[in-house]
Amino acid sequence: AEQPAAISRLLKDRLGKHGVELDELSMSNDDLAAIDRVYMVACGTSYHVSLIARELVQDWAKIPVFCEYASELNYKEPLVTDHTLCVIITQSGETADTLTAARRMKALGCKVFAITNVLGSSAARESDGTMYIQAGPEVCVASTKAYTAQMVASALLALRLALANGSMDEDEVRGHFASLEQVPGLMEEVIRRRWQDKQAARVFRNAKSALFLGRGVNSTTAYEGALKLKEISYLHAEAYPAGEMKHGPIALLEPGFPVVAIVPADHVHDKTVSNIEESIARGATVVAVATDGDERVAKLCENVLWIPPCPEEWIVPLVAVVHLQLLARYVARARGCDVDKPRNLAKSVTVE
Ligand code: M6R
Repeated sequence: AEQPAAISRLLKDRLGKHGVELDELSMSNDDLAAIDRVYMVACGTSYHVSLIARELVQDWAKIPVFCEYASELNYKEPLVTDHTLCVIITQSGETADTLTAARRMKALGCKVFAITNVLGSSAARESDGTMYIQAGPEVCVASTKAYTAQMVASALLALRLALANGSMDEDEVRGHFASLEQVPGLMEEVIRRRWQDKQAARVFRNAKSALFLGRGVNSTTAYEGALKLKEISYLHAEAYPAGEMKHGPIALLEPGFPVVAIVPADHVHDKTVSNIEESIARGATVVAVATDGDERVAKLCENVLWIPPCPEEWIVPLVAVVHLQLLARYVARARGCDVDKPRNLAKSVTVE
């Protein structure tokens, strides 16, 4: 419920005379323009943020991006150039794997920029620049508002890079920023519809496992939805880009098997609808996340988590994930799990 306010806070005063202001980067326009490669390094939910950030930086700033789990990067040789920017994304700012990776990238000559929630955290202290997501303390172990706030911070970074190297002009930046400004209202609308998540949670009552599917930026929404469900309800869940279903996961489907399909009104809508049809043909029970007015999905699926129309496709992950967070919470409650303090998990993982 705190997410809309967190996003509004983050966007406040960001639009300056020359597009997005991101002084925290502590880099000159020329240095920003020279960046020719970005490494995004993170763990868990923050890693999912990096996957979306990659799409935005590549699409807008035309800079190649490598996303790495910090725990993996620490045991391989990164391909660093003279102008590589390393972005670490870490809610707590204390994740040991991420800090180790940041130190290594710094030693290799990269500028390190941190996106974090915690003031004065190790990530903030050790980086060349820090952007605070200002989401406020996140009490529950599972990351929710930090996920969406980190995603917005990454979008601002992508816009700043695009403006610096001339891939985007100020008008385009303002257009994308205007889309971001709609996010708090869109999230509030989803929160108002939480009864839909409560209702859909019944599908998982006797389930042993679930499959999450999405395409493009929403394959990441599927990954994050599955992680949330696993973390707080202890229900096994896997996520795949929907087109991969036929390459293996389809074997899981049997009558009653829950499939969560993220199928907004976007350029791959028809393809994802086909995946829903294939799932239903095998007896699966599909819970869809779809855009208001989608009659095809309404006809196919009994349980639909409706989202209001979004101004651009890349905005959908910020809005759709709120449904999946709520869904995970209702499933967890129904299974008698402690939503705020799931077993075996710590808020910040300070060991490698
Ligand atoms: O504090 P960080 O963002 O660095 O934490 C990374 C992961 O440990 C964290 O996102 C974890 O996956 C959460 N439990 C997700 O809900």
